[in-house]
Amino acid sequence: MISRLPLVIGNWKMNMQVSQACDMAQSLVSNYSATEDVEVVIAPPHTSLYSVSQILKDSPVGLAGQNFYYESNGAFTGEVSIDMLKDAGCGFTLIGHSERRSMFGESDETINKKVHCAMDLGITAVICVGETLMEREAELTLDVIETQLSKGLAGLSGDSISNWVIAYEPVWAIGAGVNATPEQVSEIHKFIRNYLFQGLGFSERIGARILYGGSVKPDNSGQLLREKEVDGVLVGGASLDFESFCAIINSALES
Ligand code: PGA
Repeated sequence: MISRLPLVIGNWKMNMQVSQACDMAQSLVSNYSATEDVEVVIAPPHTSLYSVSQILKDSPVGLAGQNFYYESNGAFTGEVSIDMLKDAGCGFTLIGHSERRSMFGESDETINKKVHCAMDLGITAVICVGETLMEREAELTLDVIETQLSKGLAGLSGDSISNWVIAYEPVWAIGAGVNATPEQVSEIHKFIRNYLFQGLGFSERIGARILYGGSVKPDNSGQLLREKEVDGVLVGGASLDFESFCAIINSALES
């Protein structure tokens, strides 16, 4: 198994004007110009991607899209393609965030089409999975995640997801101020890793990293990141504040 560098991703969701996004990117670049022990990636809204990419260009801080449509071009008003994300400077993209699934009706089949687009273009996909509170209470968590992974990754095999990222984000923890406990997170991450290898037959040599997301804050990130099964975090709200995002990155450096 190849080593898995801790990965911290800031998902800015629908926040930040272009000037604010650029200021934040500039501050991050100044702080993390030569860090080799943690990988930092930010996912600004589409409108800021190109401007931010110019700031990140010669730095180790990576750029991610939050979403895209699976066709490469054409009459799809309001959408952007994966080629456009790449053209704007993205090396990563989120796919299947629970807000996309619940608010915009994204199915596992749609997610799978997007996964193949990212694959074809060599963009690192961050595939989000996770259960709702109702599903957890009904003890369906593992079934839900298994379905999301098997359908979302359908048609990929062997080493093909090398360097990809799975983000476990329990829906009940996102933006809730309540994170899953380190024990809950470890149990699910272990399940995901096993399922990738034994259930879906991916090679154990792949470097796929498994992140946790859902109310990650400076006061819980250290504890979560110290778990052996946790390869990084996907941070929403706390990534909008420079100090708290840096505190989380620093806890990844110390983990
Ligand atoms: P949160 O969001 O950190 O604000 O809970 C996480 C996410 O949705 O990726």
